[in-house]
Amino acid sequence: MTRRATHITRHEGVITRAEREALLGQRGATIWLTGLSGSGKSTLAVAAEAEIVARGKLAYVLDGDNVRHGLNSDLGFSPADRVENIRRIGEVAKLFTDCGVLVFSSFISPYRADRARARALLAPGDFFEVHVHADLATCERRDPKGLYRKARAGEIPEFTGISAPYEAPENPELRLDTAEQTVEESVARLIAQLEKTGHLC
Ligand code: ADX
Repeated sequence: MTRRATHITRHEGVITRAEREALLGQRGATIWLTGLSGSGKSTLAVAAEAEIVARGKLAYVLDGDNVRHGLNSDLGFSPADRVENIRRIGEVAKLFTDCGVLVFSSFISPYRADRARARALLAPGDFFEVHVHADLATCERRDPKGLYRKARAGEIPEFTGISAPYEAPENPELRLDTAEQTVEESVARLIAQLEKTGHLC
């Protein structure tokens, strides 16, 4: 068992967040995308990142499938592992936000309490929850990785939407319906949200 560290104190840096943001000419924020597998989170995050970088601002995508190959490669999909997955991502998003980056967090993040904890790590106005919504039938029809088919066949246990729960946001800053909107429309709404909050001009 791991023993928690004791005798640790915080060490303050000399460079402030404001200085980093002045250097980059932008304000950091976490845009927390949540939704079922296949709802379009990663597609939208990658497209929004490209649009923001094209405007000369720094954005960065944290993506479930990628982070689970590295930082979170020790985690699976049990409820406890998903909680830990999102806890770590919340901390990483906080660090990136403190660097002045526009962070797109693209994880199913199925539990409301975990998303609330990630939000609570950041100051109000530094965190936006975006519900990337597509009904289960649409996600299953898309099935980009063939995982819904496997989950239905009983080959993947605890699959979100099939045999594991998804708790939809009750009050997200933005809701994108990807069954109704094109990728371009959804990205335009994401960008408009960041313009509204003054993170992009
Ligand atoms: S989360 O629930 O802990 O937030 P995360 O976003 O990191 O999940 O990873 C989800 C991705 O892992 C899915 O898009 C899918 O490709 C893959 N995956 C593999 N097994 C499962 C499962 N049992 N439930 C959901 N997604 C799974």
